[in-house]
Formats: sequence, C-alpha cells, structure tokens
Amino acid sequence: MSKDELPNLLMSKPIPIAVVGSGYVGLVAAVCFAEMGHPVICVDNDERKVKALRGGDTLIHEQHLPELLGRYRNDRVRFTTDLGEATRECDAIFIAVGTPQSETGDADLSYVEAVTCEIARSITSYKVIVEKSTVPVYTNEWISRALERNGVERNLFDVVSNPEFLREGTAVVDFLHPDRIVVGADSERAGAILRDIYSPLTSGEYYQRPDGIAGCCSVSEPPPLLTTSTKSAEIIKHASNAFLALKISFINAVSNLCEATNANVEQVARGMGLDTRIGPKFLRPGIGYGGSCFPKDVAAFRSVAEQLGIDFNLLKEVEKINVQQKKRFVSKVRSAVWNLRGKKLAVLGLAFKGDTDDIRESPAVDIISMLLNEGCSITAFDPAAVERTRQILPEGDNMRYAPDAYEAAKDADALLILTDWAEFAELDLRHLNQLLRYPIIIDGRNLYDPAVMIDHGFTYLSVGRPVVHPARDMASASTNI
Ligand code: UGA
Repeated sequence: MSKDELPNLLMSKPIPIAVVGSGYVGLVAAVCFAEMGHPVICVDNDERKVKALRGGDTLIHEQHLPELLGRYRNDRVRFTTDLGEATRECDAIFIAVGTPQSETGDADLSYVEAVTCEIARSITSYKVIVEKSTVPVYTNEWISRALERNGVERNLFDVVSNPEFLREGTAVVDFLHPDRIVVGADSERAGAILRDIYSPLTSGEYYQRPDGIAGCCSVSEPPPLLTTSTKSAEIIKHASNAFLALKISFINAVSNLCEATNANVEQVARGMGLDTRIGPKFLRPGIGYGGSCFPKDVAAFRSVAEQLGIDFNLLKEVEKINVQQKKRFVSKVRSAVWNLRGKKLAVLGLAFKGDTDDIRESPAVDIISMLLNEGCSITAFDPAAVERTRQILPEGDNMRYAPDAYEAAKDADALLILTDWAEFAELDLRHLNQLLRYPIIIDGRNLYDPAVMIDHGFTYLSVGRPVVHPARDMASASTNI
C-alpha cells in the first residue's frame, strides 16, 4: 500500500499522541496507535535507534511490526529525539520507557523520573501523561508530584495509568485485539481522552477494516475498556504478571510430582484446565519462565508488598520453583548422559520463548551457562536469537553456533530443546537420529509425543512425563500420552 492510500478510519477524532520510548511496548504502541488513525510522534533518546526506525529497521523480531512500520513511518508515525517538541505538539504523552530491576528487586524508576522532568519543561497547555511502563503502585502520584515540583500548574495535566498486556512474539495482535483495556484515571477529563484514543477498538470500528490485522476481537465482540482508579490499574498490571508466573511455577511443581509418580503432566494440565475457573492457558510446564517481564515484575511486586508491610511470601516460592526448574533440567541431562564433563551437546533454542529474538532472562541461556560450567561443549541453534546470544556467550572452544538444527545435532551426545519455536516441533526425526552420536533428546518444552519418539528410536526425556527408551518401553509408549 502506498502512503497516499493509508487507511482512513471513520474515526471522528484523531488525537495527537507522543510515545516516549521505542522498546517493545513503545514501538508497538506507536505503530498500533497509527494503525488506529492517530498521528504519533515516537521519541527515543538513542539517536542510533531513531535513525534505524526512520529507515524502516524495526530492530526487534516481531510479527506485523515491519508491515506497520513500513506503512506509517515518517508519515503518521514520526521518530525523533526531541521530547520537548513532541510534548508541545501532542495531547497525550505515553511513557513507555524501561523500568529495570534494581539490586534490591525494586523497579528502577529513574528513566520514568527523567522523562517526567523533561516533559515538565515543555508543558504550556493541558496534557494527559499516560504511564504505560510497568510500574509499582504510587508511581502516578510521584509523576504528578514531579511535574508540580518542576513548575507545571496542576490544571495543566492529569496522570493516567494504562498498563499494557502485550506478549513478545504476538505483540501487535495483542495490542489491537486485547482481552481488556485498563484505564486508571482519577480525572473524568483524562479518562474521556483515553476512551477516545481507544474508541476505534472499543467501538468495533477497527475490526470492520478489510486490511486490519486479524485477531480474536470483532465488530460484535470488541474489547472491553475497564476504568479504574490509577492505583488499581498499577496493581492490576503487577498482579496479572505475578499471577501468570505463579500459574507457571505451579504447573512446574506439579510436573515434578508427576515425574516422581510416573504420571503425565499433560494429562493433569488438561484435566485441570477444562475447569473454566482454572482455564487451560499458562499451564504449560517447561524449564521455568523468563523474559524481561515476569522475573522482574514478580520481584518488584514482592518488594512493593514488603515495603507496605504485607506478607507476600507466596511470590518467593514462585521465584524459588522457577530457579529450581532450571537446575532440575540440568540434572535431567546428567541422568541421560551420565557424566556431563566432556559431553558434546546440541541445543535448540536460545530465546526465552519462541517467535522472539529476546534472550533477556532466558532460561535457555541460564541452562547453557550451567552446562558450560559443568564442562560440556555446546553447539546451539536458534532461528532468531543467535546474534544476541553471541554477545553474552561468545563463540569459543566449548561454545559454538550452528546455522540450523541439523548442523547443531551432528555428532552430539544428546540434543536439548530449550525454546518452543514451532519449527523445533517439526524436525525430520529420522535424519536427526542419523546425525546424533547417540539418539537421546531431552525436551524442556514437551514439543513431541513420546510414542513418536520411540518409533524413531530415541530415548526421550521431557517435563512431567515418563522417560521413554525405544527398546524398553514399547508397551508404555502408547499409554503415556
Ligand atoms: C508477559 C505477559 O504474558 C504479558 O501479558 C505482559 O504484557 C508482558 O509479560 C509484559 O509485562 O510486558 P512475555 O514476557 O512476552 O509476556 O511472555 P509470555 O508469553 O508471558 O511468556 C513468559 C515466559 O513464561 C516465557 O519464558 C515462556 O516460555 C514461559 N511460559 C509461558 C511457560 O513456561 N509456560 C506457559 O504456560 C506460558
């Protein structure tokens, strides 16, 4: 589509929006707001990033992002380093900068503070400042206070919390087809502006567009917008991520119980998930959760609770199970290959989950590091995350990277699956068996049916399911899945 043919929404009220920060949340929000019909200025203080984005390089591996960036860049979405100009030109300013974990586990809010102070210098008319980064409760109050301390009159701004629930890998679809939109606004005026911004989605208008990004929302089932207090919205975000992490740790603990009893966690998870009060999602056992959100947010939420004098030790257990799950996997590798020292292992997967090149807090990277420490040599492959992993695990005698899964498998003593990329579930098993020195697969993501693995002559270890060996377990294979 040429820029002259940009989709014209029926939308009555395009609202000039500034998005500060062009990371996963900021960049996706910027192009999606443009897709909804709003003019957007996306601000980042990293000139190199701004230049790349202007040139159409998304910098991250994310479905639909290249398409939307191509459609709107330097037109309905402009990229700049000038936050002052963006503040002056826009009615709503979304803060989507990083809130990394500090040494104490708290969220480090210094970027949010720096941006707030810079915004304060340029406010001359009413603005809604929207907090989209994941932040602890009371951050909105601190932003208001910082704006006032920096000389902004109280009637010239409102601060709103509008947490984002997108997942990496499906970020654009999640943004445009959300389960819910949460707007934490203590002022009616600010709440109304946010409702206008999201009206193309909540009215169902967006879903009429033939060229719109497809997803689960529709004209007849648009997403609900929930209006809450700012503090409730802040807590909704942290509580949601902590609860999802808890669900994963819970099923991982159950998977350990299944291993100890020769039960099958896939059957258990299915049996639990069919209860609509529990639901089937986020009950996939594995090697523990990773990524830039769950580990950081569980720690930050726990820290908030501690500071408020609330006993939330449940979250400590969630973290503990997550750490143990990685160690258990290394023990499982040992149980399959005997001594780890000197073993040559093929690893499929480096990213913290499939469909992304993000390796932040990746359990795959942690497990590789543990195996390297034990004296293994690793040949790894990932469809998108090799370049990033090279920065922290440089190529050397014991660490190598292969151009595809089969090259990684050549002559290895065993093959490990650590990331749930769809292509790892569709390997040519016959070929793989020929390439491996020993036909042993240790699958941290349960991508295969054990019965199929036996048929292809593999010893197959997975998570929460009985170990199967080709010669010994023919009888149990068909009953274990
Ligand atoms: C998570 C949340 O799912 C989003 O709703 C939220 O907006 C985002 O954090 C954020 O706060 O920005 P994300 O980190 O992209 O999204 O990834 P998830 O798909 O939630 O997966 C997180 C980790 O849990 C991955 O390592 C994944 O492999 C693992 N996982 C997930 C499991 O081990 N089992 C499951 O059943 C689901």
